[in-house]
Amino acid sequence: MAVTAGTKLDARTLRADFPIFEQQVHGKPLAFLDSAASSQKPRQMLDAMDHFYETSYANVHRGVYELAERATEALEHARERMRAFLNAPSTREVIFVRNATEAINLVAYAWGLWNLEAGDIVVVTELEHHSNFVPWQFVAGKRGAELRMLPLDDHGELDLSGLDAIAREGNVKIVATNLVSNSLGTINPVDRLVAWAHEQGAIFVCDAAQAAPHMKLDVQALGVDFLAVSGHKMCGPSGAGVLWGRAEILQKMEPFLTGGHMISSVHVDKTTWGELPHKFEAGTAPMAEAVGLGAAIDYLEAIGLDAIEAHEHELAAYALGRLAEVPGITLYGPPAERRAGIVSFNLEGIHPHDVAQILDLQGVAIRAGHHCCQPLMHKLGVAATNRASFYLYTIPEEIDQLVEGLHAVRKVFA
Ligand SMILES: Cc1ncc(COP(=O)(O)O)c(C=O)c1O
Repeated sequence: MAVTAGTKLDARTLRADFPIFEQQVHGKPLAFLDSAASSQKPRQMLDAMDHFYETSYANVHRGVYELAERATEALEHARERMRAFLNAPSTREVIFVRNATEAINLVAYAWGLWNLEAGDIVVVTELEHHSNFVPWQFVAGKRGAELRMLPLDDHGELDLSGLDAIAREGNVKIVATNLVSNSLGTINPVDRLVAWAHEQGAIFVCDAAQAAPHMKLDVQALGVDFLAVSGHKMCGPSGAGVLWGRAEILQKMEPFLTGGHMISSVHVDKTTWGELPHKFEAGTAPMAEAVGLGAAIDYLEAIGLDAIEAHEHELAAYALGRLAEVPGITLYGPPAERRAGIVSFNLEGIHPHDVAQILDLQGVAIRAGHHCCQPLMHKLGVAATNRASFYLYTIPEEIDQLVEGLHAVRKVFA
């Protein structure tokens, strides 16, 4: 995805919006380099949730009194904000869920389980988060379908040369890939994969958990059939995510969860389903969380997604350059221009958990582990990596703090 030059964000000023940065950790300034796991929260989003709880809180949709109507309006306003954020044709296609994992499971259970047959093929990639791998493995296994994985090349980018061979093997029904890898930061060629999936008559499920916080998304331009988003990675609260899906497909699907709110009528012998999006929103909605997510979208759009993306590319390039100075380091993934603000690495002979623990004492928060990408770790031939990830509030000094910390780690293990 092209990075447009132009508006530049001022991360130092933006940090003042985030109360969490007002503290020190172990007596050191906090260098928070774990935004790919979950982002920090701006005061504007926190205030919006507080305001909702303090002035408009009641259960939505079912009440006829003032507060319930205000709460419903707030929830539906958040849905409209997400519709516009994704350039979706209709709010009927915007389904509130808990997170990207639930969004993908919804499609796996409510489409995959009903439409896959023995011999069909589900295609994923070696770069997937377990959330976009295990549900497909599970439903494919249940239905006797085959799972195929697109491999990575030596740069940590997808090798698409095997697509024709997969197409010859059988009926490709589902292609599910991420747009941005949470482990290597790779930006994947979703446009080419969508075109190929549709040539096969397959649906395309896009895991945009790492893309939505960082780049402008347009579901119509992407051409995908489903897209999963986690609100907590894009300055929103935990507990609210979104599944976007094409109305014509959603309408034909059976529900995922059943119970209150998602029905049209319930009789002892038969229940009928509600209209979109309610058919897929059983139970009380994450109301305050959705309001917070709407405020997070306001916040991100005021900064500009293009500016956020450009800032992260700059940080990724800076980090790759600075980290390369550390003796014994292995850096994984593509060059800076083809990755988002995520850098995975290992220090020779030092387990990532030890690295992360010693860095914590320097005030540096990174993630160490398999990043919910065990198939990828197998491919890289490691059990785990260290991962530093950046966001709109990350400043180069935090990367310097990381590099100094890594020199300290090496001294401890010398
Ligand atoms: C690429 C990707 N997909 C899916 C997920 C799952 O997100 P959640 O845990 O919010 O469901 C993550 C979380 O790290 C991710 O990075």
